[in-house]
Amino acid sequence: MAIEIIGTGKAVPPRRVSNDDLAARIDTSDEWIRSHTGIGSRHIADEHTSCSDLALEASKNALAMVAGFSGENREERDRASAKAAKSIDIIILGTTTPDFFGCPSTACIVQDKIGADRAGAMDIVAGCTGFVYGLETAAGLLNISKERKRALIIGSETLSKITDWNDRGTCVLFGDGAGAAVIEKTTAPSEGQQRRGLIRSMICSDGSGSESLLFRRGGSRNPFKAGETLEKGIVVEMNGQEVYNFAVKAVTDTVAALMEAEGITADDIAWIIPHQANARIVQAARKRLKIPEEKFFLNIEEYANTSAATIPIALDELNRNGQLKKGDMIMTVGFGAGLTYGGNIIIW
Ligand code: ACO
Repeated sequence: MAIEIIGTGKAVPPRRVSNDDLAARIDTSDEWIRSHTGIGSRHIADEHTSCSDLALEASKNALAMVAGFSGENREERDRASAKAAKSIDIIILGTTTPDFFGCPSTACIVQDKIGADRAGAMDIVAGCTGFVYGLETAAGLLNISKERKRALIIGSETLSKITDWNDRGTCVLFGDGAGAAVIEKTTAPSEGQQRRGLIRSMICSDGSGSESLLFRRGGSRNPFKAGETLEKGIVVEMNGQEVYNFAVKAVTDTVAALMEAEGITADDIAWIIPHQANARIVQAARKRLKIPEEKFFLNIEEYANTSAATIPIALDELNRNGQLKKGDMIMTVGFGAGLTYGGNIIIW
């Protein structure tokens, strides 16, 4: 019995904001952003688009793929995805920018909109590692029950809504988007030469770094008070240098630990899909690990950091571009707020 990925999807808002667009309104430049982060542009949602809207689109694309649909017609896609949604037992959505803080979960909003009548649904708060955590959690829930067969895992973010657009230290880094994957319990072997699917995960945390990346206001630690006037909305605060140092170590340690536990080398891996926060983080980790650049899939230049969505967006791009072959070994590696980190090994 294996847990295989049988459909992927993504959704990014149509509005593309280049580095030059940002440089026209704050003190930054295309040269600084590219040289410090590898980012060239980001896609930004309009004011009416929320986390669940992007999650819904990505999910429909993944579900339509499960139903065998591959065309452009939106109505046909919606019919195909609605059919596949009936077979989903669990929905797990990773996000730091839910539609509503606290409750309801954004996963429940998606569950209703896709018509997944019999699915349980919940959000995972694991920052940018949300998809890595979600995949392992969903696989565990499928493995533990005979009745459950399929799960939908989503990473979705509208980071533009919690970004301080006057803070050049953070606003140049983030973008909006969603990615989704459908996993299924199949009869393929999970061990031996012909093994398939999710074969190993690491999910780790270091809460001592919880203040390096956080929303300081609005929760039970610092609730808003009646009559209070806010200078700005809820915005993410980040200690860039601390997160950078943590991230390089997290990527290096996770890739090394997964390879050691599995008894493999970089030669066995077709693709490493890292969380796309900063191309320099990936380069620094890659050099320490002595793994060739071409093993790492990067699309940060186009989408910037979409937090929990970067890994499933990248997975969908590789899948739809035909860059994944049956039997390929893929490694995901994520890190983010919490602090959290981890990775998955999947055989396609
Ligand atoms: N444009 C121009 N100059 C800038 C900008 C900008 N957008 N941002 C900062 N600077 C300036 C600073 O003011 C500073 O100037 P000074 O020397 O005159 O004081 C100078 O550039 C250097 O600033 P640093 O903060 O030291 O720049 P650094 O090289 O460390 O890069 C960065 C900053 C890109 C934020 C880096 O620390 C980083 O990537 N950290 C990790 C961030 C991250 O990955 N966050 C998310 C992870 S989890 C998640 O995905 C939600």
